[in-house]
Amino acid sequence: MQTINQITALRAQISDWKKQGLTIGFVPTMGNLHQGHLSLVEAAKAQADKIVVSIFVNPMQFGQNEDLDAYPRTLTDDSQALQALDVDLLFTPTPDIIYPKGLAKQTWVEVPELSNLYCGDSRPGHFQGVTTIVNKLFNLVQPDVACFGEKDFQQLALIKIMVEDLSIPVTVIGVPTVREKSGLAKSSRNGYLSAKEKQQAAVIYQTLTQLKTELEQGNKNFEQLSEQAQQKVKAAGLMPDYLRVLNRDTLQAATQHTRAFVIIAAAYLGKTRLIDNIQVELN
Ligand code: PAJ
Repeated sequence: MQTINQITALRAQISDWKKQGLTIGFVPTMGNLHQGHLSLVEAAKAQADKIVVSIFVNPMQFGQNEDLDAYPRTLTDDSQALQALDVDLLFTPTPDIIYPKGLAKQTWVEVPELSNLYCGDSRPGHFQGVTTIVNKLFNLVQPDVACFGEKDFQQLALIKIMVEDLSIPVTVIGVPTVREKSGLAKSSRNGYLSAKEKQQAAVIYQTLTQLKTELEQGNKNFEQLSEQAQQKVKAAGLMPDYLRVLNRDTLQAATQHTRAFVIIAAAYLGKTRLIDNIQVELN
């Protein structure tokens, strides 16, 4: 595996592969890799000849009071895990390589439909930071296929919209969420939690699973279901941010006619913000 942090060297390698007619699969990450990230690499490997992973803790998607500085950076371990999966290229740029003019002068990309709802409402500017960096990384890596986790369902939806709206020649693949045995979605931010807090945090997925059963049994009182679910999350000692029953395909509030749902949730455990979601299909 090659590790590259300069844009010129990255472009040279990509262009070389393209000349050979090889396809490129791409997995963008912020590092501190866990099984969730690695499942994206496996999915990309099934689709393309050469695999590129990026590790870049993107300052543009962190708010003023968020955990940019504290965000775990574990490059040595990450690099070993990727090597073991036969990744071809690890791209590890620094912020000054990605944003040489500084963030204030950086052009940005916004998907107006969805970027200010749900997580975007709680984290102003977050999704503009995500779509901007993903667009930029797509331009650098020029992948045929790019894999993203369903764990970040709204992020995945925004990227699909951006790719369509800007005619970016890449196929975006969503990969199912990898979980702990308790059901807790694997996340780099779980590292902020004690063992006891991790058990507590499992209430999010337990609640989503119960809500899924309710929907499958025909309960369509979405407001009430959401309210009850948030009470359960609260009773376990977390502070719910939102819990919404949505149409899976539009990410707008579900209606009485919706058949394919996604229930999305965010909650704080202490200062740690956790998100999760579950899909439900009625037949
Ligand atoms: P990061 O949080 O490192 O996640 C990188 C990718 O891994 C995302 O596509 C995310 O959805 C996926 N992922 C995280 N946990 C997962 C899990 N438990 N199961 C399956 N996939 C999981 O998301 C980002 O970084 C950034 O916003 C990024 C897209 C890299 C832009 O900076």
